[in-house]
Amino acid sequence: MEIIRVEFIKSSPDLKSCPKPSFPEYAFAGRSNVGKSSLINMLTGHKKLAKTSSSPGKTQTINHFLVNGAWYLVDLPGYGYARTSKTVKKEFPALIRDYLLNRRTLACLFVLIDCRHKPLENDRDFITWAGESQVPLALCFTKADKLSAVQLNHRLDLYRKKLGETWEALPEFLVTSSVNQQGRKELLDIIDRSNTLMNS
Ligand code: GTP
Ligand code: MG
Repeated sequence: MEIIRVEFIKSSPDLKSCPKPSFPEYAFAGRSNVGKSSLINMLTGHKKLAKTSSSPGKTQTINHFLVNGAWYLVDLPGYGYARTSKTVKKEFPALIRDYLLNRRTLACLFVLIDCRHKPLENDRDFITWAGESQVPLALCFTKADKLSAVQLNHRLDLYRKKLGETWEALPEFLVTSSVNQQGRKELLDIIDRSNTLMNS
C-alpha cells in the first residue's frame, strides 16, 4: 500500500471530541515511551507528524491522522507512567479505556511492547483486558534495532509462552523499528487487508 497523503485532523481530550467515526481506524497503544508516535511517523514517512520525546508521557490526548482520505491512524497516550508518582501506575487512563471500548470504527488496535523487556505485568494486564473486551488487536514489538536476531527471537518465545498460558489463539505478532523501518510493510499489509474487508 502506498501512503500518498496524510493530514493531522485533531487532538481530542476525550472520546466525544474525536472526529466523526466515518472511516476505519488503527490505533496505537502501549506503555509510555514504547514508540507509538515514532511508529506513526515511520509508517507515514513524516518525521514530525506525531510529537515524540525521549521522556515518557509526551502524548496526552487522542490524535487522529487521516491517511489517503480514507482511514485514520490514531496516536494514544501511554500507560504505566505517572509524572506525579514514583511508583509505576498500574491502571490504564480512563481516556484510553473509553476510546477502546466505545469507538465503533476501531478496526485494529496495535499494542506496542518494547522488545527489550521481559513480559511486564502491566503490558500483560492491558493485553488481557483488551482481549477480554473484544478489542481486535495485534502485538507489535518495537525498537527491534536494539536487539540481535537471537535475542529478539528469545523475547518473542517468552511472550508466546507467557500469553499462551491464558490465550487460546495468540494475536498476530509484528516486529518493528522506527529507526530502520523494519516491519513497515507487514503493518501496512494488515491495515490494507482490514480496509478491504471493511469496505466489502
Ligand atoms: P508517549 O507519548 O510518552 O506515551 O511515548 P511514545 O510511545 O509515543 O514514544 P515516542 O514515539 O515518543 O518515543 C519514545 C523514545 O523512544 C524516543 O526517544 C524515540 O526516539 C525512541 N524510539 C521510538 N521508536 C524507536 C525505535 O524503533 N528504535 C529506537 N532505537 N528508538 C526508538
Ligand atoms: Mg507518544
